[in-house]
Amino acid sequence: MTESSRATQHPIPSAVQEAYGPSDLSSMPLFAGGFINFGYWQGIDLDQPLTERDRISSQQAMYRHVLSTLAPTEGLRALEVGCGLGVGGVVALKEFGFAHVTGMDIHPQQLKRAQQANSDVLARQPEQLHFAHGAAEDMPFDDAEFDRLYCVEAAQHFRDLGAFAREAARVLRPDGRAVITSFFVPDADQARVGRLSELLETFATGLDVAHTIPQLTSSLERAGLTKVRVTSIGASVWPGWDRWLAGMWKPGTWPRNFLRAYQEGTLDYFTVTAERPAV
Ligand SMILES: C[S@@+](CC[C@H](N)C(=O)[O-])C[C@H]1O[C@@H](n2cnc3c(N)ncnc32)[C@H](O)[C@@H]1O
Repeated sequence: MTESSRATQHPIPSAVQEAYGPSDLSSMPLFAGGFINFGYWQGIDLDQPLTERDRISSQQAMYRHVLSTLAPTEGLRALEVGCGLGVGGVVALKEFGFAHVTGMDIHPQQLKRAQQANSDVLARQPEQLHFAHGAAEDMPFDDAEFDRLYCVEAAQHFRDLGAFAREAARVLRPDGRAVITSFFVPDADQARVGRLSELLETFATGLDVAHTIPQLTSSLERAGLTKVRVTSIGASVWPGWDRWLAGMWKPGTWPRNFLRAYQEGTLDYFTVTAERPAV
């Protein structure tokens, strides 16, 4: 691979630049453990007071859920798109038998944090973990370089789902598999897009984009991926996320509207899997 010859020039949207630069979302108590996702709360008792340990477990569990959809077998090469601090890549290496994981992120500061957060693994297993600067829409990799691709709570930031899907199909080898998990509008009802800006500051400011599930699945199919399957995992995400938010945000404040958006059908959390056909 000649990564430098394909180095991305893709611009970082200003809201993404701020959130993962100066604001450093990973340092906020909302997240914890180096992860930055809402969490997969199945098996965590939401009737008990939640601890930081529960919060970290919920985010690790999100990775376990996602990685388990990839039918991982020993010795595969995986790419994570939007890796953040790269701690999910270590779950992939330690628990799912991958031979190599590349964590890619658009934000250079996130990659610096990833190098620091995983310095022990990078020192012990330098041939197994690697971080790369690149955009979902313009990946600095050769064709068919990866057996598996996964993307955890990053697609809501992408400006061009079509370009992401084409790049995912290109860097996956024939018979390779992809999984994308994040929050999306469940259907094509355009009224939901405006409603999200009313309910949630992250959509109003442009940090998050109101992509719809039909937009994502048609992008993946147009890129040549097949067996596109969509599963709602909202029941395992939103109630736990809201319980965690309740320790920091009062009812009626905008972050508590994530649960409301789910309950009224405006937003849900999905796992979407796809395959590159074998030749
Ligand atoms: C919410 S964080 C999720 C991080 C990690 N996947 C996790 O679950 O802990 C989203 C990450 O996606 C990255 N990102 C945003 N837009 C991107 C793009 N177009 N291409 C690659 N990475 C992107 C951000 O810099 C950020 O690190």
